[in-house]
Amino acid sequence: MRKNIVAGNWKMNLNFEEGVSLFSEIVNMVKDEVIGDQEVVVCAPFIHLSTLGKLAATAANVHIGAQNVHQAEAGAYTGEVSAAQVKSVGVNYVILGHSERRAYFGETDALLADKTNAVLKQGLRPIFCIGETKEERESNNFFAVIKTQLEGGVFHLSATEFAEVVLAYEPVWAIGTGLTASPEQAQEVHAFIRETVAAKYGAEIADQTTILYGGSANPSNASTLFAQPDIDGGLIGGASLKSRDFLEIVKVFNK
Ligand code: 13P
Repeated sequence: MRKNIVAGNWKMNLNFEEGVSLFSEIVNMVKDEVIGDQEVVVCAPFIHLSTLGKLAATAANVHIGAQNVHQAEAGAYTGEVSAAQVKSVGVNYVILGHSERRAYFGETDALLADKTNAVLKQGLRPIFCIGETKEERESNNFFAVIKTQLEGGVFHLSATEFAEVVLAYEPVWAIGTGLTASPEQAQEVHAFIRETVAAKYGAEIADQTTILYGGSANPSNASTLFAQPDIDGGLIGGASLKSRDFLEIVKVFNK
């Protein structure tokens, strides 16, 4: 069966000391309280990753992720960080295509396809984000938007490459707004994503693909969201900054 994953996206929050302290709490809580085989991923700012990588190595089901990388392997790209560099400090996952990067940094589907290649080339797993804006939802255009994002960002991959991709459905209107997609709304889109993947790569790969939900997920709504058949976990923003809240979301998968 496909893996359940709960990933925290700290975004541009927490100084180094705060990040190390929160991550240590998470690692300890996971060791004490997690009894399922769900995977926990914390996507932290670059400056935290080296230290968090060492702490993550002590807990089998805790991994770290980056929130972005540059598409080139190395070179004269002042201020950028490569997939090989994050790999060298123990990173396993990289968030790509987050709506904040699409909106504020002009990341296009074509650029994201290059970044996906760079991440896979290092043997890392992309957490590839897709999702519609409020306007696109209200104009009932969201299925087309999501299909275009998949086609542009990841559908150039071979089946073997695609098998390493984690998808995250993050409706832009639900991110950081306190508005959550209802379990029915989220399930409808997750089922559509899985069907779209099946049409491209076949039912077996679609069935193995982990599809996360992100957008104002919290300890109160996570269990009804994760109970949906096509929702395999979450990409958690605000609630991942509090160890207890994050752990309660992770523990939805304790069986
Ligand atoms: P919130 O959980 O704060 O809405 O953020 C979701 C998100 O963007 C995760 O990547």
